Amino acid sequence: MGARDQAVLHTVMLLGGGAASLMCAETLRQENYGGRIIMVSRDDLLPYDKTRLSKIMNAESDSLLMRKIEFFHKYDIEVWLKKEALSIDTKKKTVTFDDGLIQCYDQILIATGCRAKSLDCPGADLENVLMLETPEDARSIHYACMGCRTVVVGTSFVGMEVAAYMINMASSITIIGSSELPYQKTLGPEIGKVTMMMLEERGVKFHMNDAVAEVQGENRRVKAVKLKSGITIEADLLIVGIGVNPNSEFLKGSPIRMDPKNYVTVDKYMRTNITDVYCAGDLTCFPLKMAKGQNVSIGHWQIAQAHGRIAALSMLHREVELNTVPFYWTVLLGRTIRYAGYGEGYTEMVLKGKFENMKFLALYIKDDEVVAASGLNVEPAVSVVAERLAEGRVITKAEAESDDLRWLKLQPM
Ligand SMILES: Cc1cc2nc3c(=O)[nH]c(=O)nc-3n(C[C@H](O)[C@H](O)[C@H](O)COP(=O)(O)OP(=O)(O)OC[C@H]3O[C@@H](n4cnc5c(N)ncnc54)[C@H](O)[C@@H]3O)c2cc1C
Ligand SMILES: *[C@@H]1O[C@H](CO)[C@@H](O)[C@H](O)[C@H]1NC(C)=O
Ligand SMILES: *[C@@H]1O[C@H](CO)[C@@H](O)[C@H](O)[C@H]1NC(C)=O
Repeated sequence: MGARDQAVLHTVMLLGGGAASLMCAETLRQENYGGRIIMVSRDDLLPYDKTRLSKIMNAESDSLLMRKIEFFHKYDIEVWLKKEALSIDTKKKTVTFDDGLIQCYDQILIATGCRAKSLDCPGADLENVLMLETPEDARSIHYACMGCRTVVVGTSFVGMEVAAYMINMASSITIIGSSELPYQKTLGPEIGKVTMMMLEERGVKFHMNDAVAEVQGENRRVKAVKLKSGITIEADLLIVGIGVNPNSEFLKGSPIRMDPKNYVTVDKYMRTNITDVYCAGDLTCFPLKMAKGQNVSIGHWQIAQAHGRIAALSMLHREVELNTVPFYWTVLLGRTIRYAGYGEGYTEMVLKGKFENMKFLALYIKDDEVVAASGLNVEPAVSVVAERLAEGRVITKAEAESDDLRWLKLQPM
């Protein structure tokens, strides 16, 4: 990895201090970019591993850092913390920050990610209605749930992980989900059912097909959660994990193209429609090669990193096409479920092993082809599927249904 060459008068600004931004900075230096790199983040912490927030909730901030401060010094990557971008002028090539600073750039990466969506109902602003975004939030939830009647809204990855984490800590845990089963649209109802049972066995209660109508409080603190169905649950703490909104407000008024949901649209080189403006990570709507170039927004750590790398190469005019297969993992009660591919709209599932045995591989089929896989205790099968998809080699339904599992590097199950 190289460092800055003072003779190079060129500045790359990276907005955001997350996975995408850090990978972009590192790739630029690996590829011997000698200009100035300024990473600006509204966080008060150097880039950290966000995925651990819902898994080890009382971690010290320092233990979550992706790189120590010495690393940034050594490779001349300036990191400006606690600074929020308010607007961008793509003609003058400047960004205005909340402290009044106006900074110029030659090329810019926008990687401001997404933030947790808040509840939209009476009482949503009570003191102990918490969301999980920062290490501080994670620690607050860890300490606040001790011995408390806790309600979690949301049965996607974050909600389920947080609920599982609080087992043996909270006095009771109730999860509210808007679908029939957890992960209904992602891992599918079958896995939703097993994971629900896993948590139920440990005393977690579920109210599915329901939603929060009102959070009732006393002295600004949650007392009860009233559901649309009419049920009222007494509670001392409410945790909200109902999805995300893109951090793109500051781009309004700029000519950078966004989709109807305000995600920034990019091409396979992570270029926006404005020259020298790139975007990467959770904030993007990007063409997914393995899904026939469909434009998608996917919030995965691994994708954000892949985007950051491709954006850096594009900045250096060494265009490499993005060709990544989405990969995700989630940890529940010490068990890791891995997922690869893009299963949206799958119509069938081929199952190897048994859910009850906590050892299974699910292959998601669309148009007679495998489009995604998820698995528990079947390493390395999910990665094998990911590799195949990345190589552009079709996995047929017939192949998926065959009892010969050697291609998956698995013994017969
Ligand atoms: C609790 C939790 C658990 C997760 N677990 C997993 C997991 O197990 N596996 C997985 O694959 N993914 C997981 N994810 C998702 C993963 O963390 C994201 O996909 C990834 O962090 C996206 O990286 P990013 O760089 O696009 O954005 P982020 O990491 O969100 O970084 C965005 C950065 O932009 C900054 N910012 C925002 N607005 C501004 C502004 N106006 N000015 C300046 N800075 C700004 C933010 O402060 C932040 O530094 C999890 C996410 C959360 C919240
Ligand atoms: C980029 O897209 C926006 C929104 O669609 C549009 O208004 C703008 O003219 C485009 N700019 C360029 C240079 O293509
Ligand atoms: C994806 O979005 C781009 C605009 O960024 C558009 O030109 C393209 O046609 C879209 N692709 C598909 C497959 O819809």
